[in-house]
Amino acid sequence: MSNSLLDSKRIVLGVSGSIACYKSADLASKLTQAGALVDVILTEAAQQFVTPLTFQAVTGRTVYSDLWNRDGHVQHVKLGESADLLLVSPATAHTLAKLAQGFADNFLTVTALAARCPVVVAPAMDGGMFAHPAVQENVALLRARGVVVIEPKEGRMASGLVGKGRLPETAEMIGHIRRVLGRNGVLAGKHVLISAGPTQEPIDPVRFISNHSSGKQGVALAQAAVDMGAEVTLITGRIHEPIPFGVNHVQIQTAVELHDAVMAVIQEQDILIMAAAVGDFRPKNPATQKIKKEMDGVPTIELTRNPDITVAVRAWKAVNHAELFMVGFAAETQNWLENGQSKLARKGLDLIAVNDVGGTQTGFRSATNAITLLGKDDLMIEIPLQSKEAVAEAIMKQVAKMLTV
Ligand SMILES: Cc1cc2nc3c(=O)[nH]c(=O)nc-3n(C[C@H](O)[C@H](O)[C@H](O)COP(=O)(O)O)c2cc1C
Repeated sequence: MSNSLLDSKRIVLGVSGSIACYKSADLASKLTQAGALVDVILTEAAQQFVTPLTFQAVTGRTVYSDLWNRDGHVQHVKLGESADLLLVSPATAHTLAKLAQGFADNFLTVTALAARCPVVVAPAMDGGMFAHPAVQENVALLRARGVVVIEPKEGRMASGLVGKGRLPETAEMIGHIRRVLGRNGVLAGKHVLISAGPTQEPIDPVRFISNHSSGKQGVALAQAAVDMGAEVTLITGRIHEPIPFGVNHVQIQTAVELHDAVMAVIQEQDILIMAAAVGDFRPKNPATQKIKKEMDGVPTIELTRNPDITVAVRAWKAVNHAELFMVGFAAETQNWLENGQSKLARKGLDLIAVNDVGGTQTGFRSATNAITLLGKDDLMIEIPLQSKEAVAEAIMKQVAKMLTV
């Protein structure tokens, strides 16, 4: 699926001779599917593990391997200068050493010296090699020079040993790439707090009152904010969505926990987006033991009100004269426009995303959404039916626009 951050971005992917080379074929494929133009450089050792044809087939582009076998153009300079990002993945101990010392003996190392873009390296090596002082010193030297180093993962390696040296999986690699590509975006330096997903209010230790929220839209908003360079804190109820790489994730269960988690970090934020579906009520006295049908009959559950988080934040904002941009969500099944407008004014929001959750293609659990953004001075923007990722981008663009004018 195309993604606007990766779309038409020129990514040079340098692959060196590690057993983890095969993972880079998947990475090249996924980046290409997301719209990136991926130019692959293979070292000689990498070609013992994978062939240029593999990468040519998944990227649809020429693969570079031999520094000398070119047609007169200075290809490495052209590639290095035109790239938006140079990623070396996997980066062997050998290639890391060469990059640290400025060696220029193959297509990859020469291109790295010519590169004017951010450089990211993803070391992968077996048998405790990563912990060796020589490797660690090379990594530290590269870091000090501004190279982004993706730490290898702990786990089982090809030799059967368990340790730190595994190349992260593709989804995480793409998360790192997005964070680096977005870091000078329009929200760079801004702190964004997003709540997402359902709350669960315990009835007893095994039952709870909840709602159908999947957290998909809030998670997509967090990714869109990261893509625009923001520092993102994402507070979620229990959801099954993967958390975007690079966000600070806080897990909660109940509305009271969500309230406390929001208030604990609110003073650091520039933008608050409340996309969580917060329960309005909770059982007043949850049972400490499971309610048994044989013994307890049909229980009556007395409810009490949950704290209104928007009201609490608004009060905090007034007392502290804080400049916090507040975005709310209104999940409606009827009279959505009137209800949205009334919530915008009542809660003192800067923007409200009104969501018709009654349809099959919008709202809870669906992959797509359609939203109407309402703001002060009769601002009304329709975001038509599209993926929740695209809706999230449109919302974040509008927030950034309102914040920077
Ligand atoms: C089967 C096999 C697996 C290897 N895996 C790794 C590895 O994961 N990481 C690493 O740093 N070196 C690994 N090596 C050693 C490198 O291939 C070797 O150091 C080579 O010179 C690297 O060259 P390059 O960095 O130019 O690609 C492996 C070697 C073999 C034979």
